[in-house]
Amino acid sequence: MIDLRNIPSDKEDLDSYEVEHNFQSWSYQPAQSPLRVVSAKGVRFTTDDGRERLDFSSCFVNHNIGHQDPRVIDAITEQARTLCAFAPSLSNKPRALLAKMLAEVTPGDLSRAFISLGGTEANEAAVKICHQFTGRRKMLTRYRSYHGGTATSMSLSAGDARGWFQVMGGTEMISVPQPYCYRCMFGQKYPECDLQCVKYIDEVIELEGGSEKVAGIICEPVTGANGIIVPPSEYFPRLREICDKWEILLITDEVMSGFGRTGKWFAVDHWDVVPDIMTLAKGLTSAYVPLGATVVRKHIGNRFKEQFFSHGATYAGHALACAAALAVIPIYQEDNLIENSAKMGKYLLDKALELKDKHPCVGDVRGLGLFVGLELVKNKKTREPIMPLAAKIRQGMNPKLEVAKKLGELGMMAMAANPSNVIAMAPPLIVTKDEIDEGIGIMDQALEVADAHTGD
Ligand SMILES: Cc1ncc(COP(=O)(O)O)c(C=O)c1O
Repeated sequence: MIDLRNIPSDKEDLDSYEVEHNFQSWSYQPAQSPLRVVSAKGVRFTTDDGRERLDFSSCFVNHNIGHQDPRVIDAITEQARTLCAFAPSLSNKPRALLAKMLAEVTPGDLSRAFISLGGTEANEAAVKICHQFTGRRKMLTRYRSYHGGTATSMSLSAGDARGWFQVMGGTEMISVPQPYCYRCMFGQKYPECDLQCVKYIDEVIELEGGSEKVAGIICEPVTGANGIIVPPSEYFPRLREICDKWEILLITDEVMSGFGRTGKWFAVDHWDVVPDIMTLAKGLTSAYVPLGATVVRKHIGNRFKEQFFSHGATYAGHALACAAALAVIPIYQEDNLIENSAKMGKYLLDKALELKDKHPCVGDVRGLGLFVGLELVKNKKTREPIMPLAAKIRQGMNPKLEVAKKLGELGMMAMAANPSNVIAMAPPLIVTKDEIDEGIGIMDQALEVADAHTGD
């Protein structure tokens, strides 16, 4: 065995450890090490080639307040000196305070939280609560969703090619279409469609056994990785009514769309809808320490005073992570980041629409707040996708990865490796107009690579 305190760490050593010993997520294992990040500040990060780059996607839409905010680092350091963690059967101050803070910032009577380690875990807990509360097993989910990488949450991620490798686990799942107006599965146009996609859900619930068999439906309020799909404003109010009619639970996965990303605290706040269960992660701590939360409405939380709550984890309510969240959440308010997201988001959307006019490869532009997507097509008129869905899981390059590569060469990161044909731009909520201009300028150049794939 080598000297464990002195493992060789020159660049070539680190590169070889990456290639030989590390699993890279959602990909064929690379022959070369990915770029190594050495530091980050605000909306920028630096790689070990000494180059500073623009983070135009908040990494995975999680560094909402920007990188390395000293207020959060101080809070984490102080908590680490006091108490990093303890058994979840006992309380700690940050956990108690965070549970109260989440009840304050989430809408309606969402008021009891199971605090876990990330988005996937938050959704696993949500589904288990849904099953335990209703005593039913069937879950509705929507195509073009991503709810996480573990067995149940991956099974719920319908139509995401990464899920094709998954043996179904944990739940009986029925998939329904998204309100994806650019590619409506019913061949209709909004608003004449009268939201056929919601009517369809109503019918599916009835066919699947209604209140006797269906436990709930899980939705990203604004779909993230699978294409920045923004629903029409009536969609969630109508879905809420249908859930109430059938007495099934509405779970909204705000892992990406929460904490100011769309210009409100939570995306459902745009439509004044209160879900039965809301799942959170990413912006909850802005990624300084991993954390997730599953927040339920009062009557659901109260049920578990009489009924056994069958879920838990060693790191539930981890003190260090809760302390990070306690430092991050007030920053959204104190630094007016949610207002900035709404204002800069409008600017970013306008600029993205200019890219659509200019580039034959941009078929559609959609967004809400600092969450804006460019959908790439082969042909604007026919809307033929620039590549098939399966391209995500095929080896080698594809047009979107070529754009990602070009962005990297030009010194910027956007969300281009996700499963859809959409390149997402989601800079930290502290972004300025000048930084948006810079990012759009780089995107403008990179899109030329995709333009080369357009034609009849
Ligand atoms: C909407 C949504 N839900 C759940 C997850 C899973 O979160 P995590 O990667 O923290 O487990 C993600 C991750 O990107 C997500 O976008």
